Amino acid sequence: MKIISKLAGCGSYLPQNTVTNDELAKKVDTTDEWIVARTGISQRHFAADDEYTSDLALKAAERALEHAGIDGADIDLIVVGTTTPDRTFPAVAVLIQKEIGCRTGAAFDVQAVCSGFIFAMSVVDSMIKTGQAKNALVIGAETISRIIDWEDRTTCVLFGDGAGAIVIQAEEVDDQMEGEGVLSTHIHSDGKLEELLYCSGGVSTTQTSGYLTMAGKEVFKHAVTNLAAVVGEALEANNLQDSDLDWLVPHQANMRIITSTAKKLKMPMDKVILTVQQHANTSAASIPLALDHGVKTGLIKRGDLILMEAMGGGLTWGAALARW
Ligand code: UT7
Repeated sequence: MKIISKLAGCGSYLPQNTVTNDELAKKVDTTDEWIVARTGISQRHFAADDEYTSDLALKAAERALEHAGIDGADIDLIVVGTTTPDRTFPAVAVLIQKEIGCRTGAAFDVQAVCSGFIFAMSVVDSMIKTGQAKNALVIGAETISRIIDWEDRTTCVLFGDGAGAIVIQAEEVDDQMEGEGVLSTHIHSDGKLEELLYCSGGVSTTQTSGYLTMAGKEVFKHAVTNLAAVVGEALEANNLQDSDLDWLVPHQANMRIITSTAKKLKMPMDKVILTVQQHANTSAASIPLALDHGVKTGLIKRGDLILMEAMGGGLTWGAALARW
């Protein structure tokens, strides 16, 4: 017998306040035409002033637990991918642990910016397969609006807030069983490129949270190259072909980057889950938000093979291949 990481359920949450490109153009020197043409984004959601990352994460987590039909008390591992925690410490994950009534196991955050969800999934998959956890919550949650520099039009139009979660459960199966649950995860970092996408403040430096700063064109080029490489790596590791995939669930940063990865995989755009138009870039939340959208709208069905991929500050990038 062996243990697999089964995707048992998903959930997501978006703050009520939506801001369209036209509304943004009233306070930023930009236009709806520019934002749509360069990114595909039409609107984004922003958290209310008294709404924190843990509030968004909790709502997504509760929906994922309900979808999976599992009680919060049975969860023994919570990993949150976030770069915008409520406070410097404790981790957002322990705030979720408290609220869902989970009293055992471990809860901690993973900091890999937009790749945070894939990194969190990779950690959870390993912990489940090595017998360290049985019922896990993997969450991506962000209030990126808190670190937006409203004086920088090249970045402030790109981001939004939100959260998504999945429940991953350990399941014992025959050794011969292949291709179920999380098939593999692949994560990478290249710290020498940290200056391309970073936050200008922090606890140890400025004692402020700082602002998001990005060399967009450079990040774009690395995203296209690294994502093409990592999706190839995921397929090769599992002896699979592009044509075996049912869905691409990409990080929703830019429609042009998504199109380029889909092209590399020879996937028609109707096999790509797209939420970038409505959500903008929600960093670590974007993949679970897109996955939940795909599942709840009936596009992604049980048994479908899905490839998730992301790239973010660090630089970090990664992919996860899983059977829903
Ligand atoms: O999630 C983490 C990973 N992040 C990403 O993957 C983002 C990667 N980068 C991108 O998506 C794109 O580089 C951007 C969307 C950020 C920018 O698109 P671009 O095609 O690379 O535009 P650009 O930065 O080269 O700017 C082109 C022009 C410039 O004007 P000039 O110099 O050509 O006259 C900018 O000043 O567009 C101008 N511009 C704007 N105009 C209207 C820049 N921002 C804006 C704006 N509204 N908001």
